Amino acid sequence: MDNFIFQNPTRVIFGKGQIAALKDELPANARVMVTYGGGSIMRNGVMEQVRKALAGRSVVEFGGIEPNPAYETLMEAVKLAKAEKIDYLLAVGGGSVVDGTKFIAAALKFEGADPWDILAKHAPVKAAVPLACVLTLPATGTEMNGNSVVSRKATGDKLAFHSTLVLPQFSILDPETTYSLPVRQVANGVVDAFVHTTEQYLTYPVDARIQDRFAEGILQTLIEEGPRALAEPQNYAVRANVMWAATQALNGLIGTGVPQDWATHMIGHELTAMHGLDHAQTLAIVLPALLEEQRQGKREKLLQFASRVWGLNSGDEESRITAAIQATRDFFERMGVPTRLSGHKLNGSSIPAVVAKLREHGMIALGERQAITPEVSQRILERAR
Ligand code: NZQ
Ligand code: ZN
Repeated sequence: MDNFIFQNPTRVIFGKGQIAALKDELPANARVMVTYGGGSIMRNGVMEQVRKALAGRSVVEFGGIEPNPAYETLMEAVKLAKAEKIDYLLAVGGGSVVDGTKFIAAALKFEGADPWDILAKHAPVKAAVPLACVLTLPATGTEMNGNSVVSRKATGDKLAFHSTLVLPQFSILDPETTYSLPVRQVANGVVDAFVHTTEQYLTYPVDARIQDRFAEGILQTLIEEGPRALAEPQNYAVRANVMWAATQALNGLIGTGVPQDWATHMIGHELTAMHGLDHAQTLAIVLPALLEEQRQGKREKLLQFASRVWGLNSGDEESRITAAIQATRDFFERMGVPTRLSGHKLNGSSIPAVVAKLREHGMIALGERQAITPEVSQRILERAR
């Protein structure tokens, strides 16, 4: 196991009816800006619960943060927050709203000329407005990590930053808020959490048994509960298991002391930027192709994955690996998420342009061994046609 430091200060408030806890969790004199997306929280009763819990406080609302949150929109929020002298941000929604709010938090305190530099030039985040969230879509783990992914429409870029200063102070996770999710978003969330886990697990062994077994537990939970979340949307236990699995997949715990890949995500971000595919839709396309392409480098962990996650123990090693990759592909398809570009009516003609964007963004040595050059990314995408 490699050396590591682990600290996760986000307070998680989990379960039915927990939105009411906002009343006590938010500092008494805070000037709060509530941020949200396209309006799902108005229709499913979440905003009503938030407003009730915040009654009597100084609150400004900013809506309209879109999926794959746009820099352009977020800068509007920064303007409003400055004018209103906001000193606390409360994101209410899915990963896009929370990620967008993290960027707003950092941009409000940014001293350079253009907050876009936080994303494009890795300008250091030295301060941020404190933030918290009410999460309504289990997927990203953003409720318990310091990551944020922001898109810029004008240039077709989708870039990430990380800072411990934008970790939510607290996150409220009420599985009942997820009952209203469209099927597509339920499936996306399960696939995203699955791939977060494989990015930190399907690399090479470093004898990190706790991390491996936690990762395998998350994967098995998603395999069991993902299809049930589609079939039984109002099953609280199922929703709760999916929600907690997604948080655990990317709150840093399973990534401690182990090599990490993240190439599927980096290639996927370019597909979203170019074609507007949902984040998880891109992952379902890239991961199976990447595992095929990287099966030598990932050999030992793929065999472990085959045995412990999929129960594949017979046949020779090659056929077990092939079967494990196929089982992964079948699982995504069973969730209703296509695993090829053609599943989204894309014929692959944009592959050279996607690879050019990877180069432009410096993504030229991806993966746990930095072995995924643009040429390898190209091969992965060709396999994913
Ligand atoms: O905008 P509203 O109206 O709220 O509707 C949203 C949106 O249309 C809807 N939705 C959310 N909760 C709902 C709901 N509809 C009904 N009922 C509910 N309870 O779902 C749609 C998608 O929402 P979005 O927030 O975009 O989805 P998700 O949570 O999957 O977030 C995706 C974003 O997170 C980034 C992705 O790249 C993408 O931009 N990621 C963030 C990560 C992180 N911070 O660590 C890691 C991930 O790998 C990922 O890159
Ligand atoms: Zn993801």
